[in-house]
Amino acid sequence: CPKQERNSHPLWGRGLIFLFPMTLLGPFTELLTLQNLPMRGALQDEQIEIIPDAGVLYNADGIIMAVGKFLEMKKDALIQGYAIETITESLVLLPGQIDCHTHTCYAGNRAQDFAMRMAGKAYLAIAKAGGGIMHTVRATREASLETLKALTRTRLLRHKKEGITTCEIKSGYGLSFEAELKMLQVIADLQQEDTGIDLIPTCLAAHICPPEFENQKAYITHLITMLLPEVKKRNLSHRIDIFVEETAFDAENARYYLEEAQKMGFALTLHADQFHAFGSKLAVEMNAQSADHLENSTEEAIEYLAQSNTVAVALPGASIGVGDKFTPARKLLDAGAILAIATDLNPGSAPMGNLLLQASILAMYEKLSTAEVFAAITFRAAYALGLQDRGTIEVGKRADFVTFKTTDYKNILYQAATTEHIHGTWLKGVKTF
Ligand code: NIG
Ligand code: FE
Repeated sequence: CPKQERNSHPLWGRGLIFLFPMTLLGPFTELLTLQNLPMRGALQDEQIEIIPDAGVLYNADGIIMAVGKFLEMKKDALIQGYAIETITESLVLLPGQIDCHTHTCYAGNRAQDFAMRMAGKAYLAIAKAGGGIMHTVRATREASLETLKALTRTRLLRHKKEGITTCEIKSGYGLSFEAELKMLQVIADLQQEDTGIDLIPTCLAAHICPPEFENQKAYITHLITMLLPEVKKRNLSHRIDIFVEETAFDAENARYYLEEAQKMGFALTLHADQFHAFGSKLAVEMNAQSADHLENSTEEAIEYLAQSNTVAVALPGASIGVGDKFTPARKLLDAGAILAIATDLNPGSAPMGNLLLQASILAMYEKLSTAEVFAAITFRAAYALGLQDRGTIEVGKRADFVTFKTTDYKNILYQAATTEHIHGTWLKGVKTF
């Protein structure tokens, strides 16, 4: 309910948005609409629509009603009696960033794993020795709902300050009926609480097979017969994820799980091709929303991803966090795939966070244009989550924005190591920080 969302915002915008049917915001030195760009394939910076001295008009439900030149819009706003929020500094406005793959909800710390990986121990070797994901599972099972909520809330605050307005969050560190539901409940509670970020929950109960189950099949059967019906009943998530990997689930069990979950009405996403090239083919065959990681995808995998509507999600923070190659983003785009970029924020493989920084590093190594990066963290990421109401600045979309203290959009990725230049994030027209 949008009104409730706004009531809990202490900041400016709230009063005006209730008093007036429409709010005009501007002028912005540059407004990048990102509209009219293709969903798939390579992009040139020249294709970005940039409106100088721009304004954006949105209604009381936080939906964009007009985008254009501020001065012209102001004349009309005065006649109509709309609220006018005048910006007095030089700002660049972009659609709010969408982080379409995170594990933001967890307890515990894996600094020891990180130190071991820096010193040369492999991620999969740590996992096989009983550490890795299972370490976080133990800490997350022990944490109370309130503790987990507080930890996640703090991480979301950082995300918000980095310009993120929509954040996917996975379960997957519970791996038991109770603990998975606890994680999903944390996400649901935070969504109700209104953190200033719209949350998309994903059930990743099939992260790895927990030791309580004798084999993958037994655990998958438990998930299908017990957990997923309950997740559905409580309306805690409408999408499921599975980690297809040597230390997690094999392709056969994964296919069975995906088929059954799909029959139950869940949308699908996969952790695929992270260390070994399997998972992405299955993702395409199952018409999954996305196949994420892909650090070790083959040329063949790139081709079939490119022929599909399954979004290829690059997670540069995981490449950096385990010292592996980057997802072949350039090849994927040149082949015609839909590329999104996400943080994978988690305590193990990708503790880095900071989507803009990760994206700029990936771009430098993979040779991506700024347009390709911006698309990958906005409307293409929205597509990966099945969301059609956000990701561009255009009439009918949500007024979710991020504003930067600069006169030139090229400074955004250039200065990505700091958040100093981020002026604010706006959710449905309300400035939330
Ligand atoms: O996306 N690869 C599997 N899952 C997570 C890592 C989880 C962890 O290491 O705690 C990922 O990299
Ligand atoms: Fe992940």
